[in-house]
Amino acid sequence: MSNAQSPPAESVWAEELAFLQKFDDGPRPPGWRLTPRAVVTFICGSNEPLKAGKGKANELQITQKFVGPKDLIERSVITLAGERGLLLVGEPGTAKSMLSELLAAAISGTSALTIQGSAGTTEDQLRYGWNYAMLMANGPTPEALVPSPVMTGMRAGAIVRVEEVTRCLPEVQDALISIISDRRLAVPELAEGEGARIEFAEPGFNVIATANLRDRGVSEMSAALKRRFNFEIVHPIADLAHEKALVLRRAKSVVTRTGVGFNVDEAVLEAIVTAFRDLRSGRSAEGWAVERPSTVMSTAECVAVASDIGLQNAYFASDRDPLSLVPSYLLGVVLKDNPVDRSKLLAYWDSTVKRRADSGARLWKRLLELRNVVEQAHAEAF
Ligand SMILES: Nc1ncnc2c1ncn2[C@@H]1O[C@H](COP(=O)(O)OP(=O)(O)OP(=O)(O)O)[C@@H](O)[C@H]1O
Ligand SMILES: [Mg+2]
Repeated sequence: MSNAQSPPAESVWAEELAFLQKFDDGPRPPGWRLTPRAVVTFICGSNEPLKAGKGKANELQITQKFVGPKDLIERSVITLAGERGLLLVGEPGTAKSMLSELLAAAISGTSALTIQGSAGTTEDQLRYGWNYAMLMANGPTPEALVPSPVMTGMRAGAIVRVEEVTRCLPEVQDALISIISDRRLAVPELAEGEGARIEFAEPGFNVIATANLRDRGVSEMSAALKRRFNFEIVHPIADLAHEKALVLRRAKSVVTRTGVGFNVDEAVLEAIVTAFRDLRSGRSAEGWAVERPSTVMSTAECVAVASDIGLQNAYFASDRDPLSLVPSYLLGVVLKDNPVDRSKLLAYWDSTVKRRADSGARLWKRLLELRNVVEQAHAEAF
């Protein structure tokens, strides 16, 4: 597992999870591995090393994983201890999937009970299917039944994740209604006496769904399903310094994982993060209006640009300094759907970048000199 590109949260943070189990032995909701407070600490981090006993061996500082309001995490954790599901909604790349993975790993010790919602998701994938060879040979038997992650989670009393729930067809989404409200699932094919066999959810079972505001909207979810979920909106990171620190941490870890050093200096990183925030919000840090491109300018894309620049700098270290790479990578994010987005980026150069350069900021002056890159790069595709 250690060589996997993206191991699950419960493996990456196994040490912290084991520590928190020991550290906080207070009451937990039935079926939970950790106390609600320990789950919040796992996600938001501890400011200092926590002590679970005497000596250094019993001390551990918990890493901050989610950058954002703690009360959002507290409410999410409380929702999961209750009778409703949790729906994390927000713009793309705001760490909804990451949060749902961390919550499932902390509460149930596994984040693997996941369904990736798409237009092709069927009701069977949310309920159960059959091993057809066994079904043909022996008819519907418990052995021939193939449980969905939802059914497995009900049996095990674990958190189940439904990613991008609004991409599923509404009638497929509605299969979740009875699962969340009744906490049981009928299997009519396995009749027992008079009625269908019923699978009951063990304590600890609940559902975390995520939905992206750019997809077919949450507005298309049925009112009945919406009522079964508590909604939590996940916003982009509010503070520049926090976002910069996160981008640095993530980009550094991506680059150093490949075995080379990360040599992009803080000022360049700050320029990248600032440009992303200006273009994402439609307003520059100084309050000047900025035309927003139609593409997603999330923290996730920002991490990708910062790590690409770090990688290019490490593998093709030469005369090109990291700053000179910024315009073309930025354009690579902005220019995806619509040629007009190039003009919007040029307008950003002609207004915000220019004003900063005129005010004497050296780094923005250099960026202004690179305006022709924005004009010419990727010309073939658009
Ligand atoms: N507030 C944040 N705290 C920590 N990491 C963040 C935050 N916002 C974005 N990220 C980074 O962005 C990455 C992308 O997050 P993730 O895939 O979970 O987003 P998402 O909201 O599920 O996006 P999508 O809607 O496209 O599915 C995370 O792995 C993390 O590196
Ligand atoms: Mg996601």
